[in-house]
Amino acid sequence: MIDKYYLTTAIDYVNGAPHIGHAYEKILTDIIARHYSLRTDNLFFLTGTDEHGIKIQKTAASQGITPKELCDMNSQKFKDAWSALDVKYNRFIRTTDEDHEKIVQKIFQKLKDKGAIYKHEYEGWYCQGCECFLNPKDLTEDGLCPDHMKKPDIVKEENYFFKLTDYKDAIIKHIKEHPDFIVPSFRANEVINQLEDIQDISVSRSKENVGWGIDILDDPEQSIYVWIDALSNYITALGYDPDGNSSEQFKKLWPVDVHVIGKDILKFHAIYWPAILLALDLPLPKHIFAHGWITIDETKMSKSLGNVVSPTSVLENFELSTPDAFRYYMATSAPCGRDGNYSDQDFKEKVNAHLANSMGNLLNRSLSMLVKYFDGEIKEEFLTNRSKEAESLIKTTLGTVKIVENHFNHFEIQEAAQEIISIVDAANKFVTDNAPWTLAKEEKMTECGQVLATVLEVMCVISSLIYPYCPNIAQDMAKQLSYDISTKYDDITTSNIKVGKLISKEDIHPVFLRVDSELADKTKAKV
Ligand code: MSP
Repeated sequence: MIDKYYLTTAIDYVNGAPHIGHAYEKILTDIIARHYSLRTDNLFFLTGTDEHGIKIQKTAASQGITPKELCDMNSQKFKDAWSALDVKYNRFIRTTDEDHEKIVQKIFQKLKDKGAIYKHEYEGWYCQGCECFLNPKDLTEDGLCPDHMKKPDIVKEENYFFKLTDYKDAIIKHIKEHPDFIVPSFRANEVINQLEDIQDISVSRSKENVGWGIDILDDPEQSIYVWIDALSNYITALGYDPDGNSSEQFKKLWPVDVHVIGKDILKFHAIYWPAILLALDLPLPKHIFAHGWITIDETKMSKSLGNVVSPTSVLENFELSTPDAFRYYMATSAPCGRDGNYSDQDFKEKVNAHLANSMGNLLNRSLSMLVKYFDGEIKEEFLTNRSKEAESLIKTTLGTVKIVENHFNHFEIQEAAQEIISIVDAANKFVTDNAPWTLAKEEKMTECGQVLATVLEVMCVISSLIYPYCPNIAQDMAKQLSYDISTKYDDITTSNIKVGKLISKEDIHPVFLRVDSELADKTKAKV
């Protein structure tokens, strides 16, 4: 068992509704959280929304509402989407929450008092999309922001600056000494390169230009600019106090085990955030997991292309009663840290093949045979003196628990799912090879019962392993197997099935119905 596990997602901007890319990150994080909930009793999952800044101010103005009204409306859309996707967090922080704003002001003051923040007149290329000044060398040949393909504005202001350069060497050293600090490791070099020509960063904006931000306590002309505000959510949410009165919860949970973020904001998390933490004398995160981006039909999502997919529209259009299939599909759409893709056709094929045909059918036909041949009863002799092949399948299944845990230690969510599906395939093969229907015909009833009991044992373990991805399907599987789905991974054994009546005919039902093929291609609803 692990002492504690604290994990966070990026907090989303609220100038629009959530799309499938935001959903990808929250689903991945929820899957990691549910996996670790079976490895620790002390888990905390934080998500939320990032609500200050010029983009929100402008969007609100264009809609004729106040920034706060826009934030309230859109923040709720994110909460509703996560609820529909069964993303179960412990706190949903909003950067407009009063406790957050107050602590951010104190953090800023502490950094200023320490001399880590100083005032300076500055002129530079400011990208509104990134909400930051860009280094001219990072612009495209046409002078555009490479991420937003828009020309940055020239902004001249007197701002507060954070002495990022003071922390450069310490961060490079940390990255080199902790090869698993940045996941996947191939991104660490990118960060080291960015660190080479890092400059101090602007951490405030004049109130005249950006009114929608947190006020600086002793300088009312300035407001705290997004990244110090946004990144601090990871500690304010737990009750961090820069004056030394941090909550018990903060002391128990910090440092964070993993920040799950998209690859586009790795620089902020692997450079800016560690520097702020070092300045506050706080320990650094254990891991920063930068996932890839999701495209739609291999095309980048964009409002102008009209291909932005809302996660809840997928559930509605495929008439899914639970989000499990969508969660499974998204989580397995890309290897660790690589880009993934969503397509209706692929979604349908994959979830039908894996969840309905392989996993669901296996449980259904095994239980049906148990009812047909044994009136749903497990007899004592089914659980002893099993064949070598049966023992070997059970051993491999237990080994898979460790393999899956190891994949999760490295945030290899797709890779872990592949291991689970290969056990499903092995169990299917075991049934085909041993043909319990033939054994029954030949009246070899003990052998027939042993084959079925073996598969049902394996299905219990599979329900535990698939639970983080498909919580509803897993609970339904466990119910039909009279298995406790809250069994911790350390406590999983090979004796999950008990002697006696396991199930009656009327209680057997499919755990996942095939996605109707005619419903495909209707999911491109605009957000
Ligand atoms: N507010 C900042 C994050 C601050 S964290 C202290 C932000 N917000 S965002 O709304 O633009 O993005 C939120 C998260 O969604 C980021 O991790 C980003 O990488 C992720 N994604 C946004 N579009 C995405 C895809 N198309 N695919 C996968 N993830 C994507 O950045």
